Amino acid sequence: MTGLSSSPPFEAAGAQTSPAQRLPGKVALITGAASGIGAAIVRRFVAEGAIVHACDIDCAGGSRLASETGCQFHELDVTDPEGWAAIFARIWERHGRIDTVINNAGVTIRKSIEDVELDEWNRVLAINLTGVMLGCRHALAAMKRNPDGSGGAIVNIASTTAFAAHPYDAAYTASKAGVCMLSKSVAVHAGRNGYAIRCNTIAPGVIETSMTGESFAADPALRKRFAGIAPLNRVGDAADIAAMAVFLSSDEASFVTGADFRVDGGTLAGHPGL
Ligand SMILES: NC(=O)c1ccc[n+]([C@@H]2O[C@H](COP(=O)([O-])OP(=O)(O)OC[C@H]3O[C@@H](n4cnc5c(N)ncnc54)[C@H](O)[C@@H]3O)[C@@H](O)[C@H]2O)c1
Repeated sequence: MTGLSSSPPFEAAGAQTSPAQRLPGKVALITGAASGIGAAIVRRFVAEGAIVHACDIDCAGGSRLASETGCQFHELDVTDPEGWAAIFARIWERHGRIDTVINNAGVTIRKSIEDVELDEWNRVLAINLTGVMLGCRHALAAMKRNPDGSGGAIVNIASTTAFAAHPYDAAYTASKAGVCMLSKSVAVHAGRNGYAIRCNTIAPGVIETSMTGESFAADPALRKRFAGIAPLNRVGDAADIAAMAVFLSSDEASFVTGADFRVDGGTLAGHPGL
């Protein structure tokens, strides 16, 4: 089931480009866009001249974002294959192209391997990993048909937990490690088949969003502790991730594919405990 919410300034948002913009006229689809990192990517992409299609299960948040930014909002559960097909068909009908897909939707469950129930495990994997796989498949199929020849950029949002495990979240850790290797598989497949479609992963460290904000609000000491694990001594802002997503979606990244980009204030750069 998919829904659509449009807002009057939508066409203008993508049409008014300037030479200083880094994504002028690019047609972008962003999942998990109603809040946090996804919403920051939407705001930044619109500012950079992209025509943005924002997707989420949160229709109220998505509609507010559409009114604020002029993006187009679609209701999409990333685990729903038919929903994906419907949205790609709608974007294709409207623009006849798609340039960048950001697979950002994700959830945490905070259950260790001893505590997680099978249905909880399956739900996290369905959203965080299978949802990304569906996004990559649809992106490849559409980007291969772009009118100026195959081309495009896929950016998948993983986590530093893909490289250093969260003991309290087995499903999340496994799903994010899966996203990193899935992205490499997509990148090499696309490159070897001559598609000119790039696929990269961003691995955020601790970023202040609704995913983390509740715990920080309940326990200010936790926020301080998480800030302290980064050599830059702060938690990240969603805009820090949006900046990397702009680069990876832009033509400046034309020789970048199959790579992981940690945006974590240096957290994983040092020896643990030092
Ligand atoms: N915040 C962090 O510290 C952090 C760190 C590393 C990675 N990440 C990753 O960044 C991404 C964004 O997280 P965030 O911190 O902005 O969280 P968030 O909770 O603010 O945003 C996640 C969004 O995904 C949407 N969503 C959930 N299930 C969905 C589904 N089935 N289909 C479509 N949309 C769905 C939610 O409605 C929400 O708008 C996630 O993949 C997350 O794992 C976040």
